[in-house]
Amino acid sequence: MTTEKIAYRASILHSIADPKDVGLEKSYQYFEDGMIVVENGHIVDIGEAEQVQARHPSNIETVKFENKLLTSGFIDTHIHYPQTGMIASYGEQLLDWLENYTFPEELRFKNPVYAQKVASLFLDELASNGTTTALVFGTVHKESVYVFFEEAEKRKLRMIAGKVLMDRNAPEYLTDTPESGYLDSKELIERWHNRGRLLYAVTPRFAPTSTDAQLETVGRLLKEYPNVFMHTHLSENKKEIEWVMELFPDRDNYLDVYDHFGMLHERSVFAHGIHLSDCECQRLSESGSAISFCPTSNLFLGSGLLNLPKLEKFNINVGMGTDVGAGTSFSLLQTMSEAYKIMQLQQEKLHPLKSLFLATLGGARALRLEDKIGNLEVGKEADFVVLDLHATQLMRFRMNQAKNLEEKLFVLMSLGDDRTVSQTYIYGEKAYDINGQHSDQKI
Ligand code: GUN
Ligand code: ZN
Repeated sequence: MTTEKIAYRASILHSIADPKDVGLEKSYQYFEDGMIVVENGHIVDIGEAEQVQARHPSNIETVKFENKLLTSGFIDTHIHYPQTGMIASYGEQLLDWLENYTFPEELRFKNPVYAQKVASLFLDELASNGTTTALVFGTVHKESVYVFFEEAEKRKLRMIAGKVLMDRNAPEYLTDTPESGYLDSKELIERWHNRGRLLYAVTPRFAPTSTDAQLETVGRLLKEYPNVFMHTHLSENKKEIEWVMELFPDRDNYLDVYDHFGMLHERSVFAHGIHLSDCECQRLSESGSAISFCPTSNLFLGSGLLNLPKLEKFNINVGMGTDVGAGTSFSLLQTMSEAYKIMQLQQEKLHPLKSLFLATLGGARALRLEDKIGNLEVGKEADFVVLDLHATQLMRFRMNQAKNLEEKLFVLMSLGDDRTVSQTYIYGEKAYDINGQHSDQKI
């Protein structure tokens, strides 16, 4: 790690609060000619460039960006690294898509050499899309998570991941048992949870693929290790919900299955939550659990339209997720663009400053990491991205017509993708530069 102080000068924008709590105006800070100072992997100063400069020695190394917008790294609250190789698989909705495409690909992760290659490619892809933290599914194989954490550790990333628990309704080659899943999870927690910037999530795939006995072990692990995460899917697809109610006839609703086994707490993150009842929303809220909103996946699998205003009404924490490989892009910019369209289809608006919040500070809150990441406040870990407002000819042309910051931000989200991410910094160090390094073929 670079221990000396380095200053970065650019237009700087970051989210500092949820627009729903403070209004749009107070939800962000913007410095047209701004500066952050980074030391020992942390932000030590931020503000107008001239004022920041005056607070530091005149010879401090300074990196200057023109026509760029510097903001905090994006946070992806739900993604599957083993599905990198089957993104964009044609023609199915959730349950058939799992059978036909997902499970066969996940079998390949039995081989740690393949798993390591995909983990490396996946983390490169996150970096080139400006994503600096993610909550990540592995496969049922504990080695898949081991190699993922090894790769993430090399890159000093703040990552959360877990081994999939699945002991029924899946091909035999991909199942564990309540006992083996419990022991493997425990081993991984002991080895990786809170090791550097890495954190562990107990990861039952979803209710249909675990027996009561296995879900009990999830509750047990969360009691034994109260600081680990819980990560699963919830209420994504109508047929899935019917199936859950057939499998667990004694439970009141889908969420109640998880609730019954003690799986709802402040570090529980449920992907999707599209078709939730008021009762389920109430329980998510009371328990401090979060929903990961995965627009490109919800459209790709035809799962439905998330009712974000309803989740807000119940005060549920929400972050953005790409859900690759059901999601069709690693880019949180593209994901925000699709979120906007999902709201349009429900006659709702999604303001670009709200989208920025969801993809950064909102994600950090959903993951209970807002004291460490999510924006560029002094003391936070220095994970940030430099976005190129002129990345393409079209963007340059359109940006020049934009009248104010909000309009620019909206254009950035609507037209932006990995071409827009100029540099990504992880823990104060440059991890990706669009003009160089790192584009070597790995697979
Ligand atoms: N539900 C259970 N498993 C999965 C998965 O891998 N992807 C998505 N989108 N939903 C799921
Ligand atoms: Zn998923």
